[in-house]
Amino acid sequence: MDSVVDAADLRARVSTWRSAGLRVAFVPTMGNLHAGHFSLLTRARAHADRVVASIFVNPTQFGPNEDFARYPRTPERDRNGLAAHGCDLLFAPAIEELYPFGTAASTRVEVAQVSEPLEGAMRPGHFVGVATVVTKLFNLVQPDVAVFGRKDYQQLLVIRRMVVDLRLPIDIVAAPIVREANGLAMSSRNQYLTVGERERAGVIHATLESMCEAVGAGQAVQTIEARAHAQLAAAGLVADYATLRRADDLAEARDLGPVPLVALIAARLGKTRLIDNVACGAPASADS
Ligand code: PAF
Repeated sequence: MDSVVDAADLRARVSTWRSAGLRVAFVPTMGNLHAGHFSLLTRARAHADRVVASIFVNPTQFGPNEDFARYPRTPERDRNGLAAHGCDLLFAPAIEELYPFGTAASTRVEVAQVSEPLEGAMRPGHFVGVATVVTKLFNLVQPDVAVFGRKDYQQLLVIRRMVVDLRLPIDIVAAPIVREANGLAMSSRNQYLTVGERERAGVIHATLESMCEAVGAGQAVQTIEARAHAQLAAAGLVADYATLRRADDLAEARDLGPVPLVALIAARLGKTRLIDNVACGAPASADS
């Protein structure tokens, strides 16, 4: 696996592949890679001849009181992991490469509506940071396909909407959530949890599953959401939200109509904030 830090080198490598008619997949990451990220690479490989991954801890998607400074950075281990999982080229830019005028003066990309509820409401500015950096990365890498995990479900919807709206010729592939044995969705932030918290965090997935079962049983949305909050509280978690939403745009699910729903939870356990989701009904196809 080769590694580049500047945009000119990245462009040169990718354009050589493209002129040879090769299809290029891209997996953007913030590093501290785990099995969840590696599953994105495997999926990228299945969709393309060459795979580019980026590692960049993007400051503009962190709020002032969030964990940007202590976000785990493990470049050596990440590099080995990427090489072992079929990555052809690592792009690990310095901040100046992505924000030449600094972060405060950066051009911003704001995806209306789908960015606004849930994480958008809890973390103001978060999705502007995500959409902005992903646009910059897409412009630099110019992939045919990019792979995002379903774990950050709202992020996936934001990127899908952005790509259609900005007419970017990139297929967005969604990869399934990778879970630990107790159902906890893999995340770099899981390492903030103590051993006991990690065990208790399995309640998030169990709660999501029971929300979807209750949807199947035709229970009222409000009842389902109230019970989910109680289930999380009983395990010592403080829920920011435990909600059923329309899967395609996150609009509130006022009743259980025929549209596909997704159950989403954000909850705090000790000092750690965790998010997860489950698509209710038929298992979502891996790439859709
Ligand atoms: O999902 C992430 O790791 C980040 O939000 C992303 C897409 C790499 C943008 O910084």
